[in-house]
Amino acid sequence: MKQLKLVSTVLMVALLLVLSACGTSKSTSGTKTTGGDTEKKTLRVVTDAAYAPFEYQDKGEVVGFDIDFINAVAKEAGYKIKVEHVGWDPIFVELDKKIADIGISSITINDERKQSYDFSVPYFLSTNKILVPKDSDIKSAADLKNNKTIAVQNATTGQEAVEGLLGKNSDKIKKFENNNLAILELKGGGADAVVADNTVIEEYVKNNPKDNFVVIEDSAAFAKEFYGLMFPKGSKIKADFDKAVKAVIDNGTYAEVYKKWFKVEPDTQILKD
Ligand code: ARG
Repeated sequence: MKQLKLVSTVLMVALLLVLSACGTSKSTSGTKTTGGDTEKKTLRVVTDAAYAPFEYQDKGEVVGFDIDFINAVAKEAGYKIKVEHVGWDPIFVELDKKIADIGISSITINDERKQSYDFSVPYFLSTNKILVPKDSDIKSAADLKNNKTIAVQNATTGQEAVEGLLGKNSDKIKKFENNNLAILELKGGGADAVVADNTVIEEYVKNNPKDNFVVIEDSAAFAKEFYGLMFPKGSKIKADFDKAVKAVIDNGTYAEVYKKWFKVEPDTQILKD
């Protein structure tokens, strides 16, 4: 009897120890305090890593200009971040639900998106261009209207631009979950052209000479666009990141990252006008 009591006491003590251990491990999530000053929680940064050279996967790792850029900006702002590839549509869903803190994915700042999200100051100038086979008779945006099938990434400004030319409900527009799939469709002959961000398709042509594709520019048809970091509406970190974006542009860190990926000096003045 005495023995049984001892065993149950030991078990009770063990249970209490386990419970208190659970309690302490729980309290380490969120904002921690170490030596008096508060340490910020790691921010969740989401991307669609199928848009080289801005964001893509290399040996299972997410890399690209945007990734180096956001790392530099976060460091400047004093935040820890974790970048995760989730896909294009999920970026918007996660920011809506405030599951993610920042989206970086060559995201164009525009009025429609501004109604639902906050954006940082601009960090990159872009425009849509047309990717076609070398022997294509498509020479301008207007030629896309000549019974051509055009592949785009779903819910991008490329899709919007093509809808502007062919009409919103045109069955000549094939929409894909990511831009690599749109390019594959062109390669397989299922489309006559891809419309996407200039840097991405120019990079593709450079890296895949055997595909015999060329890039058509039409600055009268396609507007100038600027990329921004995207935040949930009302985000409290936006101000810190705006400050940090400006700082990395002004202190030369931006130019370093830019030269690593594009081998030329950036024109940072266009980001400020
Ligand atoms: N700049 C275009 C837009 O915002 C395309 C961006 C696509 N980005 C990507 N990672 N797939 O609509």
